[in-house]
Amino acid sequence: MATVEQAESMTETVAEDGVRRRDFIHIAAVSWAGVGAAAVALPLLNQMGASADVRALASIEVDVAAIEPGQAIKTSWRKQPVFIRNLTPAEVADANKVAVGTLRDPQTLADRTKPGKENWLITMGVCTHLGCVPLGAAAGEVKGEFGGYFCPCHGSHYDTAGRIRKGPAPLNLQVPEFAFISDTVVKIG
Ligand code: FES
Repeated sequence: MATVEQAESMTETVAEDGVRRRDFIHIAAVSWAGVGAAAVALPLLNQMGASADVRALASIEVDVAAIEPGQAIKTSWRKQPVFIRNLTPAEVADANKVAVGTLRDPQTLADRTKPGKENWLITMGVCTHLGCVPLGAAAGEVKGEFGGYFCPCHGSHYDTAGRIRKGPAPLNLQVPEFAFISDTVVKIG
């Protein structure tokens, strides 16, 4: 049997150990919290880095001054092809003489371009059927039955406003968000 003195001594030891254990638990908890914070911070920093990349990809600026009427260029935005086309007056007239109500995806050329710059047709270069890149932007490429773009994958024909006129594609070539930031520089995105 323990004496009273031994019992008091054991109580102190237990109390001391108890404090130590609590301290240890507290320190351990703080340490893990620190590790947890660091672990959370890393993905956050990665996300911040990614969003900077995304911001950089979010818009592009293209100087279109060198694109003559009747010519088009292919560029890339958000890793997808974009066609920028300078329509001739005849191509604008062709687009405007179509009865919009007869179209599968009814839109006027004016709906798809900017006021005063109806000759600048800017569309995604992605067929709305299954995503092929239509022909017609590069010199010498087939433009299809309606003088715009032709998707050879399954035979979709787009007109000079990039509207679907024949074939399986359900919609017009998509017009991305864009704005002219000067007379010749267009910002896409
Ligand atoms: S992907 Fe263009 S017609 Fe099918």
